[in-house]
Amino acid sequence: MRLLISKLNYEELVEGVDTPVWLRSGKQVKGINFDNAATTPPLKSVIEEITNFAPLYSSIHRGAGYKSRISSDKYEDAREKVMQFVGADKKKDVAIFVKNATEGINKVAYRLCQENDTYIKGHEDEKCVILSTAMEHHSNDLPWRDKYEVDYIDVDECGRLVFDDLIAKLEKYKGRVKLVAVTGASNVTGYVNPVHKIAEWTHKYGAKILVDGSQLIPHMPFSMKPSGSSKHIDFLVFSAHKMYAPFGVGVLIGPKEFFAQGNPDYAGGGTVRAVTPDLVIWNDPPSKDEAGTPNLMGVIALSAAIKSLNSIGMKNIDKHERALSHRLIQGLKSIDCIDVYCADDENQERVGIVPFNMKGINHEKLAEILAGEAGIAVRSGCFCAHPYVVRLMKVTPAKITSVVENPEEPKPGMVRISFGMYNNHQEVDRLLQALQEIAKDRRRYTKNYK
Ligand code: ALA
Repeated sequence: MRLLISKLNYEELVEGVDTPVWLRSGKQVKGINFDNAATTPPLKSVIEEITNFAPLYSSIHRGAGYKSRISSDKYEDAREKVMQFVGADKKKDVAIFVKNATEGINKVAYRLCQENDTYIKGHEDEKCVILSTAMEHHSNDLPWRDKYEVDYIDVDECGRLVFDDLIAKLEKYKGRVKLVAVTGASNVTGYVNPVHKIAEWTHKYGAKILVDGSQLIPHMPFSMKPSGSSKHIDFLVFSAHKMYAPFGVGVLIGPKEFFAQGNPDYAGGGTVRAVTPDLVIWNDPPSKDEAGTPNLMGVIALSAAIKSLNSIGMKNIDKHERALSHRLIQGLKSIDCIDVYCADDENQERVGIVPFNMKGINHEKLAEILAGEAGIAVRSGCFCAHPYVVRLMKVTPAKITSVVENPEEPKPGMVRISFGMYNNHQEVDRLLQALQEIAKDRRRYTKNYK
């Protein structure tokens, strides 16, 4: 299987890659999707698995019928596979199926409040501290804000995490830091953070670490490491729709012990062992945290995606996407009027995400032109990471206030290219060619795309 797939072009493994898209001229071309950080198309193997399983689909954990038993086994087997894929500790950790990474982080934020009070014992005027970072997606920032005191580990000029600032902040809030919540890879710059090194420091200060793996897990090999190790990742979240299985499921992995405490954020069917009119005995995790009928098809899709990703090899995916990024960054740098917002330093681990702007064209307009002229799909804006993007762009506080007060004013933002394993070098060249054409005649293009 491994050999067979590695001989194929990865493009053949994914649905919809050949789908023609309309240009503004009325012509059709084969579309290029460079918006994989937002969501990925399904793998063909995922669709096949869903179709093949459909005749056996039934209720899980509840029915005694033949199909129910098969369905329950499939669901639990997928849980095992997911944990194996990210090197979770099967004895100590539990995988909870959620809707997406955002829901996973919210679940931890909600539960952490209950585990201990949000105030430091003996110092009831001091709240517990969450250290997030200046490069997070809003999903790993906002859920903490209303419940804890939050501080942000700083980034440098190029947007890379400042490790010394992590240590300084752990020291500053010594005894109060409950969790360090950090992205595995940025959805804006593609930088990969040294999460195991961050885990070591976090644990030294008696705190836990949560890694948002949304942009990391689909792109390179990853291990949470054994729970006894100082490098162990305590909580990991990721979304299946960013790893070729867009059927509405995500994963939260964390210590069984942690989820055994407190009340689940959603209560309902499946979460309880016993209920009387005045007593509730919660089920053990993960059932306690999977209220209602679970998304079996979503889980089956994720399991099928993992099987294919393993067959291809995460190292091969990483190598391929890294080569695409390098080619793109070099190409962008050769176009005079383009500003690239990430470093292409060999020592900087990265996934295939590259943000840029073309001088003289607003990011939204450039995204529209790329779609309308070349059939290339990209995302533009602030990518749900507003503080990070405005920092990279050096947008002044006065400009931010002005944009907030005047909704018709052009908003700051960037154009983002994000690769999936099925993208190829020819597509990168087609993008570079399109950008060169646009750069030559910016005024005309801007006028045409009002
Ligand atoms: N977080 C996703 C993105 O960066 C939606 O596009």
